[in-house]
Amino acid sequence: MLSPLPSARAMVPFVSVGNMMRLVHHLGVETVLAELTDAVEADFRRWESFDKTPRVASHSRTGVIELMPTSDGTIYGFKYVNGHPRNIAAGLQTVTAFGLLAEVATGYPVLLSEMTILTALRTAATSAMAARHLAPRGTRIMAMIGNGAQAEFQALAMKAVCGIDTVRLYDVDPDATRKTMRNLAGSGLRTFACASAQDAIEGAGIITTCTADKQFATILTDNMVGPGVHINAIGGDCPGKTELHRDVLRRSDVFVEYPPQTRIEGEIQQMAPDFPVTELWQVVTGAAPGRRDPRQITLFDSVGFAVEDFSALRYVRERLAGTDFYETLDMIADPDDPRDLFGMLQRAKAATR
Ligand SMILES: NC(=O)c1ccc[n+]([C@@H]2O[C@H](COP(=O)([O-])OP(=O)(O)OC[C@H]3O[C@@H](n4cnc5c(N)ncnc54)[C@H](O)[C@@H]3O)[C@@H](O)[C@H]2O)c1
Repeated sequence: MLSPLPSARAMVPFVSVGNMMRLVHHLGVETVLAELTDAVEADFRRWESFDKTPRVASHSRTGVIELMPTSDGTIYGFKYVNGHPRNIAAGLQTVTAFGLLAEVATGYPVLLSEMTILTALRTAATSAMAARHLAPRGTRIMAMIGNGAQAEFQALAMKAVCGIDTVRLYDVDPDATRKTMRNLAGSGLRTFACASAQDAIEGAGIITTCTADKQFATILTDNMVGPGVHINAIGGDCPGKTELHRDVLRRSDVFVEYPPQTRIEGEIQQMAPDFPVTELWQVVTGAAPGRRDPRQITLFDSVGFAVEDFSALRYVRERLAGTDFYETLDMIADPDDPRDLFGMLQRAKAATR
């Protein structure tokens, strides 16, 4: 007798926001950031085994909604993510996300997860991965310009992975800076509220820009940036949305995730299509040099690439094993006789009578 009950394979583990937060606290936020940095780096080391494509973006007047797919031939993954800088004024998040992993062999999903928190974690982990190859040796001070939702994650990843002990904060909205200082109290980081971006970068070896504005902005101008720093540019990630003056790019060695996407979305959209860049995966594998010279300005032109989300989802899947930090969802219609989908529907009707 065929059953209307879902089969075990129809049930997909689902990590809600509540369970993601439990998982992160169970492991410890800095442990997660450090382990995720290693997970992202491990996948960058096998970069050539991934299917890669620029993300599919649907732009509107207020923001963008994007799909970010990739596969390593065994597992397929995608993320749904938005970016709406004006949401903040309405009390909404600028960035929200969820994502899925599936088995390539059958196409069956194996994980569905919230990714708003996970995106903040993976973006910070990717920044830390880049900085550990590019930042000046022994740097302890980071400037953090833009103190919104991503800020604490960026600061804690740089602490856990690169040994940053001081964060100099600036935001056009002082309430955002106060919120970040409150959240970082007790983290072991020394925090300072600064009066301007110029003030924030004083003495910093790493400068992170993480602002949200749907326009060409100039958070850093050429005269502000001295030699020997590493710039971690997070917020310029859409056509028409950048943070750095082009003269800063001209003086920097620019490192990117996936050039076909970054040339559309990153800071380098301001430059000619053949503007020289180095792919980060080549630095990770040793095929290209990272920092060569203490006076060099290195710039990670971060836009966020699908492989980082894939690494993060796989990390979560591994860490879920043996925990109860997930529910299972009846997500896939999977009749005992695969051709009898309609029969399964009919039996369900009988079962509800
Ligand atoms: N590269 C990536 O992988 C990646 C991933 C996630 C988010 N992002 C981008 O990072 C940015 C920050 O994201 P979020 O979730 O923290 O946004 P958010 O809206 O929570 O915070 C942005 C902050 O920037 C401040 N700000 C705006 N203009 C400023 C300026 N000129 N100077 C100083 N501060 C300014 C705002 O007051 C706000 O506090 C967004 O642009 C987002 O699209 C990039």
